[in-house]
Amino acid sequence: MKTAEAAAGLSGQTIVDLTRKHTLYEWSAQSAVDPIPVAGAKGCWFWTPEGKRFLDFNSQLMCVNAGHSDERIIRAIQQQLETLAYANPFMATEPRARLGRKLAEITPGDIDTFFFTNGGAEANENAVKLARQYTGRHKILSFYRSYHGATAGAMMLTGDPRRWAAEPGMPGAVHVLNPYHGIQRGWDTAEQALAMLEETIQLEGAQTIAGFILEPVTGTNGVLIPPDGYLQGVRDICSRYGILMICDEVMSGFGRTGEWFAVDHWRIVPDLMTMAKGLTSAYVPLGAVGMRRHIAEHFRDKVFYGGLTYNSHPLACAAALATLQVYEDDHLLDNARRMGTVMTSLMNGLREKHAIVGATRNIGLFGLVELVKDRQSMEPLAPFNGTSEPMKKLAKFFREEGLYTFVRWNTFFANPPLPITEEELRHGFEIIDRGLASIEQ
Ligand SMILES: Cc1ncc(COP(=O)(O)O)c(C=O)c1O
Repeated sequence: MKTAEAAAGLSGQTIVDLTRKHTLYEWSAQSAVDPIPVAGAKGCWFWTPEGKRFLDFNSQLMCVNAGHSDERIIRAIQQQLETLAYANPFMATEPRARLGRKLAEITPGDIDTFFFTNGGAEANENAVKLARQYTGRHKILSFYRSYHGATAGAMMLTGDPRRWAAEPGMPGAVHVLNPYHGIQRGWDTAEQALAMLEETIQLEGAQTIAGFILEPVTGTNGVLIPPDGYLQGVRDICSRYGILMICDEVMSGFGRTGEWFAVDHWRIVPDLMTMAKGLTSAYVPLGAVGMRRHIAEHFRDKVFYGGLTYNSHPLACAAALATLQVYEDDHLLDNARRMGTVMTSLMNGLREKHAIVGATRNIGLFGLVELVKDRQSMEPLAPFNGTSEPMKKLAKFFREEGLYTFVRWNTFFANPPLPITEEELRHGFEIIDRGLASIEQ
């Protein structure tokens, strides 16, 4: 029976049933999960075992930036497997050497030393260790509207409601308000937001604060593009108080915004920068913390207290090198910029046509739509940390029509892989347009 099953492959329904029976899905009550069975993927598309195709408007989890099943990345992984599958982190390997050098080339300023991890949360955990060991201080500031990962420390840095169930956790995590206050209250100016940050620092005691971790463009919590001047102001304040500026580029990095990193739009050099997702386009798990030279220098004579069995895993480093090469060879940052402009105009079209579109935002191929009951009240179409019948109906519509994206609270995302064509982008927005019409009725 096993042989017959292997030859035929499992049906989509059997895959769903078995995964639901024997595996735990994240962030969910298990009775509520309704996963899409995925059999294969190519470019901007994936499909079920029965052949239903989906346009991947979320790059899975905002991570398959290079697109699915790129032969060049696959071959690089295969070759590395045949050459050297693993060496422990005390060894020096060629892919680790090459990747360190390559990242030093594309990251801003004098960031030129990297510590490799298994993903984004671990990158942030290690950024906290580095900041604390470097400064000798213990508090870490972060935004309320943020996500930094689900490990114990990163969960406490996370400001969004996913943190609540894990409390109390790591001491010393202090949250500050973002420049954005939700669709009804809107945005502070850069000056207002900076004054609030500085006041928080004074009230907490600058001498107790090791770092401020922030997503330069906030991801899951709303594709929040900061007002011009804000990040420069944060950089100045951090320098003034000896606080390390830690930019979490896990979601915003590797071309997502049309630059290598979101900080590049404002020419900011953070002290520490964390990354994952697009680093390998998720073909193999890998994260990293990049640090500026003065921080790396500190650890020349002092022990860095941190480690992981899979730190600098050769397979992941080889996957990352091939992925970065694909971004360059296919000019994917240029395409993200070009298609980002198309996305902006398609978003404008949605705003003109549908009164329930309260706001749209995108920077490159990092996009989001916020829905409201009406534009007078600007009341969100689903409450904070909740959902509603219209949002559920919209999610169902997208799924039926073969558009995969993330629907969260009163928002949905538009984060396709960077090689997306204009035709594919328009196809996605055409489904969105019909979906909005269907819930407006
Ligand atoms: C900004 C940001 N930081 C950190 C993480 C955590 O990364 P991982 O899930 O790889 O641990 C995520 C994941 O979505 C993220 O978006």
